[in-house]
Amino acid sequence: MSDRKILITSALPYANGPIHLGHLVEYIQTDIWSRFQKQRGNECYYICADDTHGTPIMLKADREGVKPEDLIAQVGKEHLADFVDFGIEFDNYHSTHSAENKHFSSLIYKRLRDDQHISSRSITQAYDPVKEMFLPDRFIKGDCPKCNAKDQYGDSCEACGATYSPTELKNAISAISGEKPIEKDSVHYFFKLADFNAMLKEWTTSEGHLQPEVSNKLAEWLENGLQDWDISRDAPYFGFEIPDAPGKYFYVWLDAPVGYMASFKNLCTKTNLDFDEFWAPESKTELYHFIGKDIIYFHALFWPAMLHGAKFRTPSAVFAHGFLTVNGEKMSKSRGTFIKARTYLDHLDPEYLRYYFAAKLSAGVDDIDLSFEDFTQRVNSDLVGKVVNIASRCSGFIKKRFAGQLSTQCAEPELFQQFTLVSENIAGLYEAREYGKAMREIMALADQANQYIDEKKPWLIAKQEGKDQELHEVCSMGINLFRLLVAYLKPVLPKLAAESEDFLNIASQPWPNNAQPLVSHEIKTFKALMTRVEEPKIAAIIEASKENLEKIVSPATKAFDPIADEIEFDDFAKIDLRIAKIVKAEHIKGADKLLQLTVDIGDETRNVFAGIKSAYKPEDLEGKLTVVVANLKPRKMKFGMSEGMILAAGPGGEHLWILQPDDGAIAGMRVK
Ligand code: 2FM
Ligand code: ZN
Repeated sequence: MSDRKILITSALPYANGPIHLGHLVEYIQTDIWSRFQKQRGNECYYICADDTHGTPIMLKADREGVKPEDLIAQVGKEHLADFVDFGIEFDNYHSTHSAENKHFSSLIYKRLRDDQHISSRSITQAYDPVKEMFLPDRFIKGDCPKCNAKDQYGDSCEACGATYSPTELKNAISAISGEKPIEKDSVHYFFKLADFNAMLKEWTTSEGHLQPEVSNKLAEWLENGLQDWDISRDAPYFGFEIPDAPGKYFYVWLDAPVGYMASFKNLCTKTNLDFDEFWAPESKTELYHFIGKDIIYFHALFWPAMLHGAKFRTPSAVFAHGFLTVNGEKMSKSRGTFIKARTYLDHLDPEYLRYYFAAKLSAGVDDIDLSFEDFTQRVNSDLVGKVVNIASRCSGFIKKRFAGQLSTQCAEPELFQQFTLVSENIAGLYEAREYGKAMREIMALADQANQYIDEKKPWLIAKQEGKDQELHEVCSMGINLFRLLVAYLKPVLPKLAAESEDFLNIASQPWPNNAQPLVSHEIKTFKALMTRVEEPKIAAIIEASKENLEKIVSPATKAFDPIADEIEFDDFAKIDLRIAKIVKAEHIKGADKLLQLTVDIGDETRNVFAGIKSAYKPEDLEGKLTVVVANLKPRKMKFGMSEGMILAAGPGGEHLWILQPDDGAIAGMRVK
């Protein structure tokens, strides 16, 4: 047993949306590292949690008519189920909405405050007078001050790329109520980051803390001077109230990284681990944070400064990775490449993706591309064609001709030794997060093993008289080489490794630096350990991920569209608008935006697909009256025929409201 004690984290996923393949790059990267450390005999803990606080989660719960606590509990369960099914093995998965996190967030804050690292002052911000809340930039929409593009967020323009403050936005409205925001003052609390300038200069440039490209980027930021960081938000806010500051809450990014400590504390309580051994300033243990390159600022500046200021240890290193593109482009909902973890799991083996990401990952921050053609080719050729094939080529003879017994001696001790001699080299690549290089080394070994079998041709030996011993030794050698390959791939392919260990009838394999050949050992019957990627399944994933962008509801992408061109009364009279009662509302499997509604329009019921899923829960719609375009030509949609159109208003997405008549109206009445 080695004496390294290691604590590893992945960034905590937000509890306001599902896990997608972009997230999985990081969880798979971290899980491989954690499994590798454990296989090497190190004491290692991989912890994570849901990141549960903030305005978006509060508003989402509000819209869904549930308590934020219930919303985050549900999302937390879904996240964990996705991770488990992808083979991500956390030692603890917790929540930032926890007693431990409240404790440590308050403790860190108080220590910083008591050492004069917190200041407060009044600032002016946009305020929604209807919702009675301050508006984060993302909840203000309007026209870009630079290019006049409509419907832009309060901080940046998606059309021209300009960044600005919400007060510069023209015709600004609250995306929550549609009301014009007013300006309002309120006291905010700030973390005085500049107090840690010298410490951060030292920390960010010390060997091993950061990747060189990250350290260089931070040097630029540090040169430009560090600004105070606003760590408070006003009520209403879903989070922790700041000690001695009623109505003021910690900004979600203050308590999110503290969630790492909180999750570990929770594990300590359950297992009697010593928290202080890992978090005290003089700790001899190692602490690593795996993150995406978009959150470097928080992890490489704010977080080490907070820890240092509050008298905890700082991280041993922060490892940033790049983003995921799919087929060379940004993930896109319309192209069906914004793929949720669950959609993938519904169709394909998670180990394919684990291997593919491993084959593409390096220690750098470059983006990685998931090309489905390359994915299929690599999995089929490397894993099925090279690795699993060795076992399937050799095991049949062992079973049929030698009663499942491996030979009494190793036929090629040198070849076996060649395979074990590279173990430290491969270990070094895993340790350095150069997984792509490690996979290439392992596949070169697989090529060697296949070459050995190709040269020996056991299928020909098997037909020759008196060659039983040779056949036995060649096939046993193949099985022994397969076993080493599986040991090297174990951090990446834990399921394949476990099933192979069962087939080989051996205990869980440690790192194989001291491995000896299996001789006179009985193996079990071979079962297909992995099958080829079937391309129709990829097509099915993309199809299931495509959001139907047809507008079923009357156009609702903008909150306040300009008035359309004039029409004649006769044009209007052609539209048969009816009061309709929603008798049934259901989710549709595979549809992200649509709900399926059965509406009663008086003397008949109609099937209508409405793009209001993000705004309504089906059960809240049933029984409601609304307005339907009853004479719209039926349209064939992906999920069936739509026989009408529901009228709704709002900027779209979650902010959409169906039209409802006043009391007294009944289904079937014509709207005039
Ligand atoms: O960027 C994100 O998705 C954040 N939820 C990550 C938080 S990481 C840590 F600080 F908690
Ligand atoms: Zn613009």
